[in-house]
Amino acid sequence: MQKQKPFSLFFLSILIMMVMIMISGSDGQVLINSTCKTFSKNDPNIDYNFCTTSLQAAPASQCATRQGLGTIAIRLIRYNVTDTRCHIKQLLKNRKWDPYVRQCLSDCLELYSDAIPSVKAAMKNFNARRFDDANVQISSIMDASTTCEDGFKEKKGVVSPLSKRNGDTFQLSAVALSVMRMIQTESQAD
Ligand SMILES: *[C@@H]1O[C@H](CO)[C@@H](O)[C@H](O)[C@H]1NC(C)=O
Ligand SMILES: *[C@@H]1O[C@H](CO)[C@@H](O)[C@H](O)[C@H]1NC(C)=O
Repeated sequence: MQKQKPFSLFFLSILIMMVMIMISGSDGQVLINSTCKTFSKNDPNIDYNFCTTSLQAAPASQCATRQGLGTIAIRLIRYNVTDTRCHIKQLLKNRKWDPYVRQCLSDCLELYSDAIPSVKAAMKNFNARRFDDANVQISSIMDASTTCEDGFKEKKGVVSPLSKRNGDTFQLSAVALSVMRMIQTESQAD
């Protein structure tokens, strides 16, 4: 019986180490959860679950700082915008669209094409902590997603084939704007 003691101590210390690793590994998750909670409380455009699922799915998000979360949000916008632009191009290859919808899709293609340089510039400005400039660019992307969606709404009976994508881009932009606002407020408080 006495011989087992060193072993159980050994396992106990391994257990403690694992718990410590788990606790430190969830630091990022705590930051994501608390940040998203504040955002969804302050901004009706941000859904808590959308915010946490989006941010935590990104690589390295578990170790992210507030600045890191901003980078992640902007990167997600970039993926979304790039993918949506490509998707619209594919949709336009289909000949069955009625002329009104086709025109809307063309307008959206233009909006999303313009959004790509905007998101790249926003990332540069964000990294250089030029938050006001980054804010203008992210806001323009947010506007692009609503303008695209509203185009379809102007004619009765037309259903936007881009609702989910426009909604995602809109919300991700709202998240990125909130991160910047939070960083700015915190640095002013220093
Ligand atoms: C963060 O929130 C998610 C869902 O909202 C929850 O499942 C998770 O346990 C939370 N994590 C931490 C570390 O608070
Ligand atoms: C856009 O971003 C959201 C949130 O990260 C994600 O759920 C969605 O799959 C993305 N869409 C595309 C087309 O990349």
